[in-house]
Amino acid sequence: MNKADKNVLTGRAAEVRPFYVMELLARAGQLEAEGRSVLHLEVGEPDFPTPQPIIDAGIRALRQLKTHYTPALGLPELRQSIAAYYQQKFNVEIDARRVIVTPGASGALQLALSVLVDTGDNVLLTDPGYPCNRNMIKLLGADSTIVPVGADTRFQMTAADISRHWNEKSVAAMIASPSNPTGTMIPRQELINLIEAVDACGGNLIVDEIYQGLVYSEDDLTALTFSNDVFVINSFSKYFGMTGWRLGWMVVPDEYVDAIDRVAQNLFLAASTPAQYAALAAFDQGTIEILDRRVAKFRERRDYLLPVLREMGFHIPVEPEGAFYIYADCSAITQNSFEWTRSLLEDEAVALTPGIDFGEYRASTHVRFAYTRPVDQLERACCRIARYIK
Ligand SMILES: Cc1ncc(COP(=O)(O)O)c(C=O)c1O
Repeated sequence: MNKADKNVLTGRAAEVRPFYVMELLARAGQLEAEGRSVLHLEVGEPDFPTPQPIIDAGIRALRQLKTHYTPALGLPELRQSIAAYYQQKFNVEIDARRVIVTPGASGALQLALSVLVDTGDNVLLTDPGYPCNRNMIKLLGADSTIVPVGADTRFQMTAADISRHWNEKSVAAMIASPSNPTGTMIPRQELINLIEAVDACGGNLIVDEIYQGLVYSEDDLTALTFSNDVFVINSFSKYFGMTGWRLGWMVVPDEYVDAIDRVAQNLFLAASTPAQYAALAAFDQGTIEILDRRVAKFRERRDYLLPVLREMGFHIPVEPEGAFYIYADCSAITQNSFEWTRSLLEDEAVALTPGIDFGEYRASTHVRFAYTRPVDQLERACCRIARYIK
């Protein structure tokens, strides 16, 4: 009997669910080892490498032996650059003191939840939504109230949901725009309403803006335009193409900075130093031009995929405006998306993420397509899926 069998895992850790897609990925790896060419539409990260100016800045930092810890809240010049980015992109003035550099948005989410949530507290989350949030809340000994969201609200929480679901244990609500898995955004007025609704309840709003920049409509927003009292999460992972560098940030209300400093010192000490120096090049004009050409590519992919999927029988009631995901209703094709994605992988070597990875609400009739592959691969994947459906 090993230690885990003897129940050494606490109830909290034992309850953390794995990603089902990891099982699919493992199987995809076996199929590839057998010589099959698997088309990957399940991957939640850009296929493009980190832009060269960022890589060069990282290499320069290493050559200059920038290998020691930075302050827990991040390199002052990077915090300054992030604040300047908000000014330049959104015309919002942010005091760099409120910008906290973290190990990915994941680190930011953990820090934000650590200072906002206590044992027994409750946090409102959307279903479908980013699955790690529920687990992070669990690990803090808190609970989540799941708010099922559908096409009628663009798969987003609304101010009406806050009134309906807020309870005496609730301390915060978490939203994401553009969202994973749906790619949909919260419209400007609804975002303002949400900020006001959570504020009226005396709670805190955590707004995950990790897919900011990967937006195909005019309305790329930040909640910081409307309030200084929100926790805004962001990252260098997605738009900036730096997933493996593990670097993110958040902007927090001024009165939380010192507490977050203490928690960050204890949880992480600091984010990666070479990654922080590399990220200083992320906001250069040349880098932004490279990134915006990539955004155009993502848009082309979305524009290819949407009508083709609809033609095949997937129901996509709301046009996804951002990220690189399409969350499709497959109820006309299957009532069991988990089994369906498994057999699609076996028979046609196409990998998708089943709805179950993002919650429970209508999960068995949804799948997520990630367009993190070039159009020619999407075309081949769609041919195989169409054949499979027939
Ligand atoms: C909505 C959302 N938030 C946070 C993260 C974490 O990203 P990272 O830690 O790489 O910045 C992800 C990653 O997929 C995500 O989709």
